[in-house]
Amino acid sequence: MKKLLTITLALCAFMVALACGSNDPEVDGMTGATEQTGGDGEGTTKGKMLVVYFSRAGENWQVGVVERGNTAIMVDYIKELADVDVFEIVPEVAYPQGYEDTKTVATAEFNNNARPAIKTDITNLADYQTIFIGGPIWWARPPMIFRTFFEAHPELDGKTIIPFGTHGGSGVGSYKTLIQEYFPNATILESLGISGESIRDAASKTTVESWLKKLGVDKQSTAIQSIRTRTANSGRKYALNGQPTNGLSGIYIQDNKKFFIR
Ligand SMILES: Cc1cc2nc3c(=O)[nH]c(=O)nc-3n(C[C@H](O)[C@H](O)[C@H](O)COP(=O)(O)O)c2cc1C
Repeated sequence: MKKLLTITLALCAFMVALACGSNDPEVDGMTGATEQTGGDGEGTTKGKMLVVYFSRAGENWQVGVVERGNTAIMVDYIKELADVDVFEIVPEVAYPQGYEDTKTVATAEFNNNARPAIKTDITNLADYQTIFIGGPIWWARPPMIFRTFFEAHPELDGKTIIPFGTHGGSGVGSYKTLIQEYFPNATILESLGISGESIRDAASKTTVESWLKKLGVDKQSTAIQSIRTRTANSGRKYALNGQPTNGLSGIYIQDNKKFFIR
């Protein structure tokens, strides 16, 4: 028994030595990660992140009557998987419950080049560096209320913007077009559109997860970026939320190399 313990300890020491000696800057053993909450974006390349969205509950195309709009469900996934704050664009005058009635109102808004009023606006948009912007597709475009929002927020120009949304088949490319039109100096990252009909499927959440990972904005990626920028503090341990910890487990950084201790 004692011999087995000695061999096990020696093996562990060898593995830690290998990890320390490696020139590979990537973190291994991430399956041991347990803590992924918090994080203010400090030190990450994407900075503080915000989701701005509009979504309509009620009767909708192919999903019947829903208590939570399709895009709102997509936002729930993003909020769970990335360290974001969320701002919902709420119209001053709510859209009708019925799908046909909403179509009538939306048509009138487009025809009149309307700017539907927003109930309460956001005042600290400037604090955010990366902003997800998304909603449904109405008549192959973002609803007019996005124009109201964009015209009220010229500070979006120069930001990093990630378009997203749900649709009935048209895709969300028109969000990118409209954002580019209003904010020519924004950096627009890869968008994601999911059909409203399938947004409640588990596969859609997986799709959102892969997209966030690819963009490097999921919780794990931003935590690692945060740690990378703190390598100057050699020899400190960090939990996966990027906060220093005195505990035994965490990501240990020494001489610009990282290894993971469970
Ligand atoms: C007024 C109206 C117009 C729509 N026009 C389109 C369209 O042109 N193309 C499309 O793919 N889906 C269209 N849809 C479907 C919505 O984009 C889709 O149901 C979306 O998931 C709704 O999102 P929400 O529940 O977050 O509002 C339309 C829906 C409404 C209510």
